[in-house]
Amino acid sequence: MYPIEEFLARTPRVPLLTGPTPLHPMARFFSGLGVDAYIKRDDLTGIGPGGNKIRSLEFLLGQGIAEGCDRVLAAGPGQSNLCTLTAAACARLGLECELIHNCFRPKEIQGNLLLNELLQVKSHFLGPVTSEERSAYTEQLYQTYLQQGAHPFIIRNGATSGRGALGYTAAVQEMITQCRQQNISSMTIFAPGGNGGVAAGLIYGNALMGNPFRIVIVSVEDTEAVLEAHITTAIREAEEITGIPCPAPVNQLCEITDCYRGDGWGMNTPDSARMVKEFARQEGIFIENIYNSKVLVGMRDWIMEGKASGAVCYLHTGGFGSLFSQY
Ligand SMILES: Cc1ncc(COP(=O)(O)O)c(C=O)c1O
Repeated sequence: MYPIEEFLARTPRVPLLTGPTPLHPMARFFSGLGVDAYIKRDDLTGIGPGGNKIRSLEFLLGQGIAEGCDRVLAAGPGQSNLCTLTAAACARLGLECELIHNCFRPKEIQGNLLLNELLQVKSHFLGPVTSEERSAYTEQLYQTYLQQGAHPFIIRNGATSGRGALGYTAAVQEMITQCRQQNISSMTIFAPGGNGGVAAGLIYGNALMGNPFRIVIVSVEDTEAVLEAHITTAIREAEEITGIPCPAPVNQLCEITDCYRGDGWGMNTPDSARMVKEFARQEGIFIENIYNSKVLVGMRDWIMEGKASGAVCYLHTGGFGSLFSQY
């Protein structure tokens, strides 16, 4: 057992995931390109519309519950996947949850906002304020609850933090077992990079468990240098929590591409917009337009250019709820 596995086994964690999530071959989408293509179904994490944040919430809410929290605050844009998944996880755990959005409440409720209504979560709509103002409001709300004698807990920075990243460190462990069971060796994993939490967890876990995978991070938002800095920060935080140093810098542990982000977060490229339909048509699996479509565009390019071969895996991080607000 690696030291990181021992740490994961003893750190506070609340079971939320209906996992292991499937790792299965992709029959059609990459056919004819000479690779063994797989998909890791983290769109099927089992609570709410599913997605990557459930893995982070296992560790973050695990800590919150260990500290005796009775109320969870999460903040994000109206269509935040993190907010909806936090509300759904809190419903499962019987915790109060409040969401803070930096937008007005739209007249017509769609996508994740509709799911939040069904979850009957309390939502604060602050109007078009900055994310810093949204954070300040959230911290103030937190203080108010503290003064009232309650035990609030904030999910900070969209769950991208050292503790949140541990979700994908644990996912590496899960994928090692699945690859062993399915006789898959030397697999390249393609994953999205937004704030870098998924990437940080994967890279840290992979480095501490013998580097079984090659990891390619497709930036959906920032330049390679900025994303690398975000990932490094999250890994530093994880190291502080675990006491286990990452053995090398991020640029030696993964490859990052920023060639597919277009004009940044939430801005489709012609290829990414086409990909949403192409992938649904060929695999019967839905992806959204902010994270997953860009990863698949990059992955297909890398395969076609001969930069990835053998076993290749697309990490589907979910976001299904937001798809309905994108059309
Ligand atoms: C569906 C989906 N995929 C990927 C990500 C990217 O995660 P990170 O910000 O940790 O890079 C997010 C983050 O919000 C997400 O909602």
